[in-house]
Amino acid sequence: TSVAAPREHFASRLGFILISAGCAIGLGNVWRFPYIAGEYGGAAFILMYLIFLVILGLPVMVMEFAVGRASQRSAAQAFDILQPSRRWHWFSWWAYIGCMLLMMFYTTVCGWMLAYMAKMATGTFDALDPDGVAGVFGTMLANPSEMVGWMLAVVVIGFFVCSLGLQKGVERITKVMMIALLGVMALLVVRSVTLPGAAEGLEFYLKPNFHNLMYDADGNMILFESIFAAMGQAFFTLSLGISAMEVFGSRIGKQNSLTGEALRICGLDTAVAILAGLIIFPACFAFAVAPDQGPSLVFVTLPNVFNQMPLGQLWGTLFFVFMSFAALSTIIAVFENLITFTMEKWDLDRKRALARTAVLVTVLSLPCALGFNVLAGITIPGIGDIQSIEDFIVSNNLLPLGSLFYVLFCVTKGGWGWDNFLAEADTGKGIRFPRWSKLWLKFGIPALILVIFVMGYVPKITVWLGMA
Ligand code: ALA
Repeated sequence: TSVAAPREHFASRLGFILISAGCAIGLGNVWRFPYIAGEYGGAAFILMYLIFLVILGLPVMVMEFAVGRASQRSAAQAFDILQPSRRWHWFSWWAYIGCMLLMMFYTTVCGWMLAYMAKMATGTFDALDPDGVAGVFGTMLANPSEMVGWMLAVVVIGFFVCSLGLQKGVERITKVMMIALLGVMALLVVRSVTLPGAAEGLEFYLKPNFHNLMYDADGNMILFESIFAAMGQAFFTLSLGISAMEVFGSRIGKQNSLTGEALRICGLDTAVAILAGLIIFPACFAFAVAPDQGPSLVFVTLPNVFNQMPLGQLWGTLFFVFMSFAALSTIIAVFENLITFTMEKWDLDRKRALARTAVLVTVLSLPCALGFNVLAGITIPGIGDIQSIEDFIVSNNLLPLGSLFYVLFCVTKGGWGWDNFLAEADTGKGIRFPRWSKLWLKFGIPALILVIFVMGYVPKITVWLGMA
């Protein structure tokens, strides 16, 4: 394995862990996880999700870090450095496109979080009934200038932080933001679980309901759908398969083993996801608001809860601060990745790479922001609007197949190879990567990913065939 020239590393181990955790902790934890868990049986779903996290997510995360640390490069060059045959070279584009597509809808949804923080703080929801609250969300989506405005605010904040540099901007600010996020979250959990009537929500969320995992409200079998959702969530929440994590491996030294680092990051990510549910469900039940609203849970359901809570405006604002920090930490991390990639791919200095990336992200984020109003006519049957299409391409395709790529690269001789991977993963103090898992990695994970990948298409194809 050849190692490229030294480059700027994170100033501290804590910085690395919190930035990687920040990249992982995002809308997936605070927005997607609670509503998916709510839909598929609460704790029963969480159990299945945890299994996928351990048998799929964790090993792929170690692989991404190993590729980054061994090559000391972003995905733009890492595969060429580790496997000079250039046979794996094309994957650098997968990484770039994947991160870009993720940002293309993430900037919009992060914008909603900022918008709601402002709306909560200024009392927009005061005295509104549930229809009024739902109306606020609908009015926002229908207003192109509001949507684009909040999206632009996110883009400006993200690139501003990146413009301050890796250590002085990304590392310093993400560290503060993540620590604040954990603090605000702890406050919100205590508030929510001590509300009168919270126990019922705790039961809904924490008592496994295997029936809801297997059947929907009409009694249809949905076990495969639940499995697919749990696996997709494991990839999404860890940002795996598009080399978002890989780049952070390229910014650290050899002091600590990568399995230990990945475990810490997965642990933080999981804790935030589970605690987000502990904030949402007890509060919903305490105020008799149905928590099974799907994606609009946070925007349409929760303001009603805060409306009824003593000091609700304060708690609601804090809640959206929490949401915004989670989303922004991912935005900053992935922007940083795109900038590093651009510097290496096109041999640009940081300033130019940042400018080019900022322009591209801004332009490419427009379709999603406009997809709820001006471009609302653009939909794909079985998938949905522009945001759903982008999410589908990333979450159902690029993340699982990209993770499959990492596994093949790290365990096959034609790629980087098992021995090289293992040596890199195990360099440094801490937990070793389990050698006995090789067979699982080589055959189990690819088979599982492919089966579940195909199963994810079955309902879509059924819709498409039905239309033909
Ligand atoms: N890992 C990021 C999230 O969970 C994409 O939102």
